[in-house]
Amino acid sequence: MKEKRAQFATRFGVIATTVGSAVGLGNIWGFPYKCGANGGGAFLVVYIICVAVIGIPVMCAEFAIGRGTHKNVRGALRQLHSSRLIHAFSYIGILASILILSFYAVVAGWTLEYLVEALAGQMTASPAADFSSHFGDTIASPLRAIGWTALFLVCNYFILRRGVKKGVERMSNIMMPILFFILIVFCVHSFFLPEVTKGLTFLFHPDFTKITPTVVLGAMGQAFFSLSLGLSCLLVYSSYFSDKENLIRSAGVITLLDTVVAVLAGVIIFPAVFSYGTNVAEGPKLVYEVFPAIFASMSIGWLWAVLFFLLLFFAALTSTISMSEISIAFLTEEWGLSRKRASFVNMVVAIALGSLCALSFGVLSDFTIFGKTIFELFEYVASNILLPLGGIAFAVLAGWGIDRRFVRDQLTNGGSTNKWLYPIVLFLMRFIAPVAILLVFLYVLGIL
Ligand code: TRP
Repeated sequence: MKEKRAQFATRFGVIATTVGSAVGLGNIWGFPYKCGANGGGAFLVVYIICVAVIGIPVMCAEFAIGRGTHKNVRGALRQLHSSRLIHAFSYIGILASILILSFYAVVAGWTLEYLVEALAGQMTASPAADFSSHFGDTIASPLRAIGWTALFLVCNYFILRRGVKKGVERMSNIMMPILFFILIVFCVHSFFLPEVTKGLTFLFHPDFTKITPTVVLGAMGQAFFSLSLGLSCLLVYSSYFSDKENLIRSAGVITLLDTVVAVLAGVIIFPAVFSYGTNVAEGPKLVYEVFPAIFASMSIGWLWAVLFFLLLFFAALTSTISMSEISIAFLTEEWGLSRKRASFVNMVVAIALGSLCALSFGVLSDFTIFGKTIFELFEYVASNILLPLGGIAFAVLAGWGIDRRFVRDQLTNGGSTNKWLYPIVLFLMRFIAPVAILLVFLYVLGIL
C-alpha cells in the first residue's frame, strides 16, 4: 500500500524549487508596496531583523520536521506528537493556505493581464498616467477581474495535476535564474532615473521615528509571507528532500536569495516612484502603476515588459504551486483523493474565494470588515496573524515538543555537519523566535 514518495532529483533542484516557492509576488509586489506605505528604510531594517532572528529558525524547524518524517503536515505532526491540539493545528495551515491562494491569484491575474497588454503593444503606447487609469478600470470591472483570477488558477491547476517532480522542478530550474538576471537589468536602469538618490535614500536611510506597532507587525508578517513560512509549505517541500541535504545551509541560501530579490525590487521601484511622481503609500496597486512607466521609458520597452511579466507570472505560479501542495498533500494522503481530484477541489475553492478578493477593487470596494476590504482582510489575517502563529507552533514543536535527538540528527545530518551552527539555530528556535513573535503581538495589542 505504501507508495514510494517522490524526491527531488538534484541539489540545484531542491534550492531552485524552494526558492521558487519563496520568491514570488511577495517580493516584487508585496515588499515594495508595504515598505512604501510603512516608512521605507525603517521597515527594511525591522524586516531584516525579523528574517534573521525569526525567519531562519522557523524555516529550520519546518525543514527538520518535514525531512525527518517525509510526510505531509498532518501525518508528520501525528508521528511526532500525540496531542490532539497539535494535530488540529494542521487545519489552520490549510485554511491559511487557501486564504493566501485566493488573494494571491488576484494579483497574479493582474500579471497575466499585463502580459497580454504588453504583447498587444498597448502598455508602452499610452502615457503612464493613462495606463494606470486603464488598469484601474480593468480591475474595477467585475467580469474581467474575476476572469483573470480564474484563468490564473486554471493554469495553476494544470501544473499541479502533473505531479511534484515533472511539473514543478523543471520549470523553476529555468525560470528563477532568468528572473534574477532581468531584475538586475532593471536595477541598472533605475540608477539612471532623475530621482535615484531620493528613491534610494527612502529605502536605505531609516528614519527610526517611523517605527510603530503597525510597521513592526507588517514587517514580521511580510517576512513570514515572503519566506513561505508558518503554513507548513516548506515542511511539505522538505519532506521531498533527500537525507543528504544540509538543512541549515539550505535555509541560509534560500533566505539570502529571497531577501536579495525583495531589496532589488525596492531598488527598482523607489527611484521610479519618485521620478514619476507616484504616491509611495499607494498600497497594493503601487507596483502595477509604476512598472508601465518604467517600460515606457526604456528602449524596446514592450519586449522588456513581455519578458518581465512572463517571468513574474512563473514566479507567482511556483509560489501558488507550493501553497496548493499543502492542501493537495493533505487531501491525497489523508483523505485518499486522487491527485487530479485534489487539485480540482483546490482550484474550485480558490476561484470562489478569489473572486470575492478580485471584486474588492471594484463593486465590493465599499464592503469592509474592520475597515478592510475582503482582499485586505484575507491578506492581513493570513500574513500578520496566522503565519506568525504557525511560526510559533513549529518553533515550539521542534524546539521543545519533540525528541531533541530527532531535531539534532536532522539539522546536523546525524552529527556530520553544522557543529557550530546547530547550537545557535537551536537557541534561536527555542527562545528567541517564539518570544519575539509573542512580543510583537503584545506590542500591537498595546499591552507592551
Ligand atoms: N513566498 C511567496 C511569495 O513571496 C508566497 C508563498 C508561497 C507563501 N508559499 C507560501 C506565503 C506559503 C506563505 C506561506 O510570493
